[in-house]
Amino acid sequence: MSIGLLGCGVVGGGILDFCAERTDLTVTKVLVRRERPELGGLAVTDISAITDDPTIGIVIEVMGGLHPAYEYICAALGAGKHVVTANKAVISAFYPELVKLASENGVTLRCTAAVGGGIPWLTNLERCKRLDAITELGGIMNGTTNFIMDAMHAAPVSFPDILKQAQELGYAEADPSADIDGDDVRRKLTISANIAFDALLREEDIPMFGIRTVTDGDIKAFKAHGFVCKLLATAKAAEEGVCAYIEPTLIDSHELEAAVPKNFNLITYCGEKIGRHSFFGQGAGRYPTAFNAVGDCLDILAGKVGFYTGTMTPAAVSNSAEAHPYYVRTACPDEFLRSVTVERWGEGVITSCVSVEEMLRWGRAHLKKDPACFVAGIR
Ligand code: HSE
Repeated sequence: MSIGLLGCGVVGGGILDFCAERTDLTVTKVLVRRERPELGGLAVTDISAITDDPTIGIVIEVMGGLHPAYEYICAALGAGKHVVTANKAVISAFYPELVKLASENGVTLRCTAAVGGGIPWLTNLERCKRLDAITELGGIMNGTTNFIMDAMHAAPVSFPDILKQAQELGYAEADPSADIDGDDVRRKLTISANIAFDALLREEDIPMFGIRTVTDGDIKAFKAHGFVCKLLATAKAAEEGVCAYIEPTLIDSHELEAAVPKNFNLITYCGEKIGRHSFFGQGAGRYPTAFNAVGDCLDILAGKVGFYTGTMTPAAVSNSAEAHPYYVRTACPDEFLRSVTVERWGEGVITSCVSVEEMLRWGRAHLKKDPACFVAGIR
């Protein structure tokens, strides 16, 4: 089958390499913004050269960003092309529109590389829910923040220095605030939870607290009490809607997540009958991401139809029934924090069980009073 490739950066190059070794998938056109002599006759600069080409069966989008990627994906679906994308921002923000458009045009939309890079996460989530009800999912869904937390636990290092290293190694998003403040994880969690629970959650409704303000002193206190801190995503089936949130989380140092090194991801779902399945691997990078994108094309070749889920019911994010203790460090504690404090750890305090909804609302609001404040749930 002939492929039109939108974007030819690091991941696009990996896709070209995988396809060059095959006879069943051939990249015949590559949409680029400027001249790329090394692409020879493949390069085109106008999307219509791909959407109007009747020989192209699959469009792979690896340009990134919301626009014009969204418009190009719509044009491809509208032209009756199957679409494979690694673009979590587009899928998370325009999920219902894109699934509807694909279905109206009788084509397939796949985005396995959008969550977990090279990890076969969405494909297994889809397979699991054919047979069992998913009760819970989440874990480490961002390599940059895991790299930072891992390094900060290994040796005293300043946050800006280690973030710079993650950027130099190519792990971080173009704007690293998307990594350290949780937006990148929130997009991945939205897509995963929508598929797992046949839901239609709005990305912006999921509360999050990032790792931007964590200090060496915090990590020292966590280690002294036998904990490791990781940025974790959580989604659970709830009585009403879906419980979903992202927060730095203190986990026992013997937990699987605590051992995840460098920029690796560890993503887990729990099925009602089958229990826990965890997926470990590279969540980004040339060949991991290209692997899942080309794998999606092979699934389409093998006759895969539709999206990962057929049903989408609008659902509210509901975190009021989920409660646990928190570690909070702030230079200006208020009445609420004093009322829930049960213990002191170094410069921080430990709270009694507080609902996730209340604590993350408090944490985000408190950052305006104390921008250095840090909040972490304790599992
Ligand atoms: N910046 C992301 C990460 C890349 O660090 O995981 C993949 O989404």
